[in-house]
Amino acid sequence: MTAPSPLRLTEIEELTLDEAREEHAALVAEIHHHRELYYSKDAPALSDADYDRLEQRLARLEARFPELVTTDSPTQTVGAAPSSGFGKVKHKVAMLSLANAFEDEDVADFVGRVRRFLNLSEDAAVAFVAEPKIDGLSLSLRYEKGQLVQAATRGDGAEGEDVTANVRTIKDIPHTLKGNAPDIVEVRGEVYMNRAEFLELNRVQAEKGDKVFANPRNAAAGSLRQLDSKITASRPLRFFAYAWGEVSAPLGRTQWESRQKLESFGFTLSTPSRLCDGADALLDYYREIGIQRPTLPFDIDGVVYKVNDLALQERLGFISRSPRWATAHKYPAEQAMTRLNTISIQVGRTGALTPVAELEPVNVGGVVVSRATLHNKDEIERKDIRVGDMVIVQRAGDVIPQIVGYVADKRPADSHPYAFPDHCPECGSIATREEGEVVTRCTGGLICPAQAVERLRHFVSRNAFDIEGLGIERIQLFFEQGRIRQPADIFTLEAREEQRIDRLVTMTGFGKKSVEKLFQAIEARRTIALDRFIFALGIRQIGEATAKLLARAYRTVETWQARMVQAASERADKREEKKPELVGEAYAELCGIEQIGVSVADDLTDFFREQHNLDALAALLEQVKPEEYVPPATASASPVTGKTVVFTGTLVTMGRSEAKAKAEALGAKVAGSVSGKTDYVIVGADAGSKAAKAQELGVTILSEEEWAALIAGH
Ligand code: IVH
Repeated sequence: MTAPSPLRLTEIEELTLDEAREEHAALVAEIHHHRELYYSKDAPALSDADYDRLEQRLARLEARFPELVTTDSPTQTVGAAPSSGFGKVKHKVAMLSLANAFEDEDVADFVGRVRRFLNLSEDAAVAFVAEPKIDGLSLSLRYEKGQLVQAATRGDGAEGEDVTANVRTIKDIPHTLKGNAPDIVEVRGEVYMNRAEFLELNRVQAEKGDKVFANPRNAAAGSLRQLDSKITASRPLRFFAYAWGEVSAPLGRTQWESRQKLESFGFTLSTPSRLCDGADALLDYYREIGIQRPTLPFDIDGVVYKVNDLALQERLGFISRSPRWATAHKYPAEQAMTRLNTISIQVGRTGALTPVAELEPVNVGGVVVSRATLHNKDEIERKDIRVGDMVIVQRAGDVIPQIVGYVADKRPADSHPYAFPDHCPECGSIATREEGEVVTRCTGGLICPAQAVERLRHFVSRNAFDIEGLGIERIQLFFEQGRIRQPADIFTLEAREEQRIDRLVTMTGFGKKSVEKLFQAIEARRTIALDRFIFALGIRQIGEATAKLLARAYRTVETWQARMVQAASERADKREEKKPELVGEAYAELCGIEQIGVSVADDLTDFFREQHNLDALAALLEQVKPEEYVPPATASASPVTGKTVVFTGTLVTMGRSEAKAKAEALGAKVAGSVSGKTDYVIVGADAGSKAAKAQELGVTILSEEEWAALIAGH
């Protein structure tokens, strides 16, 4: 394909909307074409500078005409892409997960089960392959006649996302298989990041004011699921092969042979691996790898044991989502001992005071930890943690480091219990704790700078306004310089600084280009989905899901705002009234939205009762236009249109959120609890009280299969 090369003589400022639309379409096609040449064909036709110019022109065009921004536009590459941005791939062979073993006995049980299932005697030899379990995300790579044709994430095991373009940028993944590969081979393995490369990536991200990732796994997932392959290409992703899906000819007779075959195709295997013949050998391997774990270049959360003989694997088969022939043996969280130097207090967006342990830096399983959360006042009291104590720090895979407890015989003689502050360390206002709450809060509200900064950080965060180049550090800097005090200021920044960009450059230390890019990114967010807008306001208890419910119920920002203001004034008049319908009509309407209770309604109305919030909102609405909520198009013929359904228990064929999304796409309303209004309750494994309640109320109960049958073909 040759893309048209539009003449770019007209200044963007002078273009009409129609001209802009035409040029936009041509540019998008051209950029996609060059990306294809660059990433997929390894044959770029433009210099990097020329290519960048195309992208810049597109960005400026979209900045002036935001209505032209489409989800597939090359500019829409910020953050983790919405899954709708990727095509779906049905796995020919399901991608399963593994059962877990934790204790030595669990491993003996696993080996025993294998023997019994195969009708082997207790001492019959069964060989296993043991290999590290890398903490990344699994991927399936399809090769036809030796060529990589498709790459897909695991997704729900049955269907994943098509990430082919991104995967082609990963250096460990061959585009062409070496040697004599069968016509069809699906290679499976894990995409991950080395710890050192992960830390370096985070350092660079922080410097640019971009998102930093919580751990290598998140970084790998976020990097793979980018709509722009260029971003993926810039990330240090790696790949280990450990399994396969569809193959037109077997790769070997055993797991071990097949591994070697994968290696001969040009893949890196997960190592160090070993052939073991029974539980004792497996446990030896587990211990040895456990010792090496802190010094391995990547995070592992366990090891995996697989029956070596593929004929036996075939006989053993699967139970629900995992094979009988394999298991994962997990390592416990990594721990270390260190001194608690002091306890500092962080002030959050809603004024919550969170105690943080400042530690003598210590290596916990390969990661240097110098801070850990202490959660809240009660936690410190319960564990009786004191400044000066030697404490045990624990890091478990994904989670933020925690303090397990203190070492009693190392406690200094003069130590005394920690006194939790009763004033905000940032603004000096009184800090109080409401009855029944665990959180201590600063009462400073608007005058507390820490809260203001946190609110701004929330406002620009990924699932809110998601402004590229306006990360935590930059917000902090702009706030300290007085340039941005409230959300509306973000959008007036360019106009205020127009004549003084050079000064801004000097004051902030950013490059001129980066300032221009920032302005473009801000411009691009002048229109935004209503639910994101509501979420961005950072009202207590209004998370993404609740923001969606509100957007769906009120449709436009004008209606929402008007109804909230009315509900707030109704409640101000009748604060003691407990029944929503007696408080007033707008308040009752709010409480009537499924899943919104009185407590959420009270936080919302509290927000709308404060004049300063109304002012900030009005200022923001002068700059930003939230889009009207448009309900997803539904097939009117769907058998569940307009029905209220509840999912409960563990679903086997799909995750809860996917099941929910699917039901909603078909026009059903998904509720969290069973009531008289419920039409169907879909029960998975281990369903509890909701299934019982459904029975009691006479609501139709469906198994997962029955549900699948009901919606089949829609
Ligand atoms: S085998 C049918 N081997 O762990 C079994 N999985 O908890 C296929 N993983 O979904 C998986 N390292 O993402 C296998 N050496 C390894 C692994 C491994 C990491 C991941 C994989 C899997 C998950 C199960």
